[in-house]
Amino acid sequence: MEQQTEVKKKVMLSGIQPSGDLHLGNYLGAVKNWAELAEEFDCYYFMADLHSITVRQTPADLRRRSVSQLAQYIACGLDPAKNTLFIQSHVHEHAELGWILNCYTMFGELSRMTQFKDKSAKNAENINGGLFTYPALMAADILLYQADYVPVGEDQKQHCELTRDVAIRFNNLYGETFKVPDPYIPKVGARIMSLSVPGSKMSKSDPQGCVFIMDSPEEISRKFKRAVTDSDTENCVHFDPVNKPGVSNLMNIYAAVTGLSFEAIEHDFAGKGYGAFKPAVGDAVIEALRPIREESTRMISDKEYLREVYTDGAQRATAVARKTLRKVYKRVGFVEKPF
Ligand code: TRP
Repeated sequence: MEQQTEVKKKVMLSGIQPSGDLHLGNYLGAVKNWAELAEEFDCYYFMADLHSITVRQTPADLRRRSVSQLAQYIACGLDPAKNTLFIQSHVHEHAELGWILNCYTMFGELSRMTQFKDKSAKNAENINGGLFTYPALMAADILLYQADYVPVGEDQKQHCELTRDVAIRFNNLYGETFKVPDPYIPKVGARIMSLSVPGSKMSKSDPQGCVFIMDSPEEISRKFKRAVTDSDTENCVHFDPVNKPGVSNLMNIYAAVTGLSFEAIEHDFAGKGYGAFKPAVGDAVIEALRPIREESTRMISDKEYLREVYTDGAQRATAVARKTLRKVYKRVGFVEKPF
């Protein structure tokens, strides 16, 4: 009886480029919260390896990172029994729908993408076609699963907008085919800034200001001790992101890992100054990441288990993706495949 009245869960989907180890910003700002979405939503997360090769990769590294990132996501709380976790290239429908949507995405639209402009400035020697048409593949990723929501950061909002435009365009031409997705803005989720440049988001391109979940306790401790605090003379732990971005970022991190409120933190560190606060944040982060790092390490050496996870994930994903692709092929006028 229960089953019959149960409504279909909304679909949530996001892709992650296997371009490096997860850092504290990824964990506190995104993955930790995703883990809690599984009850409410039907969630798909994949390693976006097709996207990664728009920038030159070392093949062995890409292969290793795709699997080790999967382990890290699981260790951060994404339960493979409750979420569909897979590797993008294992579901060939992504590449196929990507091609089709290329033909429904305009040159002008792609030219306006800020990520393309940024990446082509950074990789001037390799401005390839894939880098340019990347958003059409991303639209395919999302639309294949009829996703309702896409949890993404600020940097991907423009791509999500384009996905909506492409979906609407296709639907207008051929009738309802794709669910038009919305960006998912989490209720909670800390925006973690760099420890060395608190004005910028924590990013792996700035290793000194970036704490990786696989960093050793010694490394984490060192990075927090060197964290940039503010040049005011107060030396007082107080939350004020505009005037005290460094300390406020540390407070954000501390609050996220300990669950304490800003008031409680200010109270606990009243009169103690930055010298006491920085190592305390470091210690709290070490403790929060310890089980995640240990679990990731254990899983990375359990290749069989990870293989089972991504096999099962790809099978589940394929079942959904195939249905959408079949519909699309029919709509655009392809002859039905006889075998
Ligand atoms: N473009 C995203 C990034 O660079 C990764 C990505 C690929 C993605 N496909 C996606 C994110 C689909 C959300 C949905 O971070």
